[in-house]
Amino acid sequence: MHTPLFATVALAIAFPLVFTACGDASATNTSKSETPVAQPAANPAPANPVAPVAQQPAVKKPTLPPKIDGVQVQAYFSGEPAAPASDNKVTAEKVALGKLLFHEKSLSRNDNLSCASCHSLSNYGVDNKATSEGSDGQRGGRNTPTVINASRQFVQFWDGRAATIEDQAIGPVLNPIEHGLKDEAALVAKMKAKPSLVAAFALAFPGEAEPVSASNFQKAVGAFSRTLVTKSPFDEYLDGKQSALTTEQKWGLKTFIEVGCTECHTTRLVGGHMYQKLGTKQAYATKDEGRFLITKDEKDKFVFKVPSLLNVEKTAPYMHDGSVATLEEMVKIMARVQANKEIKDEEVASIVAFLKSLTGPVQAGLSMQ
Ligand code: HEC
Ligand code: HEC
Repeated sequence: MHTPLFATVALAIAFPLVFTACGDASATNTSKSETPVAQPAANPAPANPVAPVAQQPAVKKPTLPPKIDGVQVQAYFSGEPAAPASDNKVTAEKVALGKLLFHEKSLSRNDNLSCASCHSLSNYGVDNKATSEGSDGQRGGRNTPTVINASRQFVQFWDGRAATIEDQAIGPVLNPIEHGLKDEAALVAKMKAKPSLVAAFALAFPGEAEPVSASNFQKAVGAFSRTLVTKSPFDEYLDGKQSALTTEQKWGLKTFIEVGCTECHTTRLVGGHMYQKLGTKQAYATKDEGRFLITKDEKDKFVFKVPSLLNVEKTAPYMHDGSVATLEEMVKIMARVQANKEIKDEEVASIVAFLKSLTGPVQAGLSMQ
């Protein structure tokens, strides 16, 4: 929703941009002519070959903001993904219990691993490893996504195999290469062994005969996860504060749109709202068959959830397998395999500057490690 002020500004600066969002190979990237980038001068041979002209830096930082179609920006980014409705009422008591459970190492086979071991809340909900070690030290094939803002997505996991954050919460506990508990009964026994947890369950689920249960574990962890949200400068910009983005970030936003990233990365989460194949325009080699493993439908081979890009600056390494170390490299790969464009280093830098505007502070007091 935009404020009247933003609408005025947006309309005043709106101009007929041709959005090449379909990633058509023949579409030209208009940002090239509009970005005030220093062009290499077509100089004749220097008069004095002994003193060559010092190489100018390739990019001059743009000083004037670009013209951005504010209506288009709102259309791309203002909505939330269609997350499934939840009947899990978020109460302070459930959140407090969920926070305890999230950090409880005794809920793993060797009493050595909690959700926070892989999803550190003082570190934007990730561990910055390509793949994470489970209770026995084994590693799965997938990179740990952040839990921050995860509840806002349309489905959970890289392949969408859990619908809600509550459905998702039990998965890691029973996964042999994560917490590694045998079954729900083992989880309940572990929780009942801790008087502090039993007391917190009684407070969170008052009046229930058996408050300590696997389904209440899911509700409490789900309620806590629903509180893990961030607000970024880009959110403020979408809410109408033009000065929330730097000039460089506004150029980056424009480039992001013109290169065609918005064919997939949209909504307030800049992703987290649909599935797409990895390698829509050029094949990208990966062993993981993605959503095909769940649906067994040929069409779903190498299809993944389009990840949200909120806080992406902090969540390296990237991709479902954590195989890409830097954001710059990731942006280049995306442009090539998803939009069929070889983009220049200055366009990469510009997009990365924009992506950094998606970083918002993690709420204070969340870390318990
Ligand atoms: C050993 C490391 C590890 C532990 C421990 C762990 N996770 Fe995860 N988590 C992962 C990995 C890896 C994935 C991605 C798996 C996939 O998509 O197939 C994931 C996915 C998720 C997601 C989905 C995020 C998204 O964007 O789709 C949420 C939410 C989540 N975990 C919450 C939790 C909670 C809650 C716990 C504790 C009950 C937990 N995790 C324990 C590694 C871990
Ligand atoms: C056709 C859809 C599509 C387009 C267009 C697209 N992406 Fe993606 N993006 C995806 C999918 C799907 C993934 C997950 C790939 C994987 O991990 O297998 C992804 C992953 C990413 C990641 C890694 C996120 C993480 O947490 O690992 C970044 C960063 C990213 N995209 C940025 C961009 C940028 C910048 C552009 C434009 C140059 C772009 N994307 C264009 C679908 C798309």
